[in-house]
Amino acid sequence: MEVVRSVAEMRKRAAELREAGSVVALVPTMGALHEGHLSLVRIARELADTVVVSIFVNPAQFGPSEDLERYPRDLDRDAALAAEAGGDLVFAPAIGEIYSARYDTVVHVQRLTRRLCGAFRPGHFDGVCTVVAKLLNIVRPSLAVFGQKDAQQAAVIERMVADLDMDVEIVRGPTVREPDGLAMSSRNVYLSIEERADAAVLHEALELGRSLHATGEKDAAKVVGSMRELIEAKETTEIQYLVAVDAATLEDVSELADGTLLATAVHVGATRLIDNVVLDGAGETTVHG
Ligand code: PAF
Repeated sequence: MEVVRSVAEMRKRAAELREAGSVVALVPTMGALHEGHLSLVRIARELADTVVVSIFVNPAQFGPSEDLERYPRDLDRDAALAAEAGGDLVFAPAIGEIYSARYDTVVHVQRLTRRLCGAFRPGHFDGVCTVVAKLLNIVRPSLAVFGQKDAQQAAVIERMVADLDMDVEIVRGPTVREPDGLAMSSRNVYLSIEERADAAVLHEALELGRSLHATGEKDAAKVVGSMRELIEAKETTEIQYLVAVDAATLEDVSELADGTLLATAVHVGATRLIDNVVLDGAGETTVHG
């Protein structure tokens, strides 16, 4: 697998590909690739002629007390996995390639970033939007693929792309889960054995919400209350947020409907995990293993 390290080289390669008529897809990642990322690479492979996988642990989206230093990094392993899944090229720039010493610009999506993760991770989505805008400008792909597991991130990026007239299609890939339902995440490796067992409750709670809605319950507060009880019954969990919101605006809803997003962030021990389901969102989940 070819690994491109500089912005200038990536721009050059992408321009050559476009000139040759190749449809280019970008799968932005921070590395530590797992089956969730690889499913996005496979989706890109289906939709494009050339698949670029970017691997960049973006310091701008980590808070001061977050896990930037210990975030897992293994470029050789990631490049091999990306190639196996159908990636053609890895773009893995050094920090200085992306943020020069005089770097001074932030891309800020206003309303959509105020709630859910945005309320607890100040500046996080500014970091995400800024780096994604830069990656899109460097690679200029026809499409870019993001995971539904980070539903707020996908919504924020779709807003940014629409608002800034960026000429790229954003594709969402379904959440990939372990056999017990835990959503794949690079942070799952931090969980102890007990925490790993408890972590499956996020998905159980979301599925409870989904089944209560399917049997006719519309009262969002009641459903969220039942989900909360289930999560709180576990020894190692602490809910940061658990909400029923409109999937497009991310505003609270009092009545559940098809298209409502049930979303949660839970600390399991010291590890913060997020997950979500869209009510009646057919085909949004795949199970691995
Ligand atoms: O989802 C991620 O891994 C990151 O937020 C992204 C989109 C690669 C930006 O750094």
